[in-house]
Amino acid sequence: MTAEELYNRLNKIQPGAVLCHYTMEKCEQMLPLINEINELKKQKDVVILAHAYCAPEIVLGVADYTGDSFKLSEDATKVSQKTILFSAVRFMGETAKILNPAKDVLIPGPLTGCSLADSITGKEVRALREKYPDHTFVCYINTTADVKASCDVCVTSGNVMKIVESLPTDKIVFVPDRLMGQNIIDEMKRRGVKKEIVLHNGCCYVHKTYDPELIQFFRSQNPGLKVISHPECEPSVAALSDYVGSTGQMVSYIKDQPAGSKFLLLTECGLNARMHYEHPEMEFIGSCSMCKYMKSNSLENILETLRHPEHAEHVELDENVRIAAKKCIDAMFHYAAL
Ligand code: 13P
Ligand code: SF4
Repeated sequence: MTAEELYNRLNKIQPGAVLCHYTMEKCEQMLPLINEINELKKQKDVVILAHAYCAPEIVLGVADYTGDSFKLSEDATKVSQKTILFSAVRFMGETAKILNPAKDVLIPGPLTGCSLADSITGKEVRALREKYPDHTFVCYINTTADVKASCDVCVTSGNVMKIVESLPTDKIVFVPDRLMGQNIIDEMKRRGVKKEIVLHNGCCYVHKTYDPELIQFFRSQNPGLKVISHPECEPSVAALSDYVGSTGQMVSYIKDQPAGSKFLLLTECGLNARMHYEHPEMEFIGSCSMCKYMKSNSLENILETLRHPEHAEHVELDENVRIAAKKCIDAMFHYAAL
């Protein structure tokens, strides 16, 4: 790739944040890093998976696969390289390791947490199981391997409604996202599905920032505005949205709208950046909330991890935990395919 080619890809992205402001000079500075990463990938037989919330130069410059949690967990089952470098957060690296125990999985970011995954431990889930022995335990994919190992079925933002509806039980404990859980309860009511759903108290610190006033303000300034939100947002935000869906579902929804449509995307700013690049015929306004964990991935730390991976950057899991967590993820693939 030349600096000009990279510039042509990135110069269309202007969501407003300094982090995503690309000049030719910035592209020239990034190019040696991108070329060295792409060369090392070949030499060391590494594949890079990057979540859509990572910085655009990672998604467009070095990633082999990009997408949302569900797509990336499916991609992780298909790769042939002996090492997976996951530009995302730790729970996603753990998911890749659960599905690919023989592969070396590397996580480069210095901030590898997630406010949802960090809100509950496996020990807390096991205590809840004693309190609710007759309930089916459903966990969001944004959880540690130990939490998945203690639950019955995993879900992503893209398949959660379908799976909760089709589970052959009417008693569910859903962990850890309280806001997504409330959105599930509301959606089940709309569908006329009777389920008792017990919630935990976690939330995504990025998505919880949006509120109805923000939507009302932008609508008043932009007639015809289409508001799209993620199910990790407040139910009051979901209720005012034209569409609620996972990262991948939002991308499909936008693709199907007529050229010239105007969108307010209530999700992490990485998706805004990608939509600016992929849909120059559409208009994207407003909100730009950044996930510090996802954005702590950089070309510099990906390169450093490829050159000399440190011990903590290798994802390692206890084999019993891995096997139990895999059952939980396999249950998700089973119900998602029904
Ligand atoms: P999806 O990738 O499933 O849309 O989830 C968003 C998210 O917050 C990932 O951490
Ligand atoms: Fe976690 Fe929210 Fe960041 Fe996703 S956006 S990694 S849910 S803190």
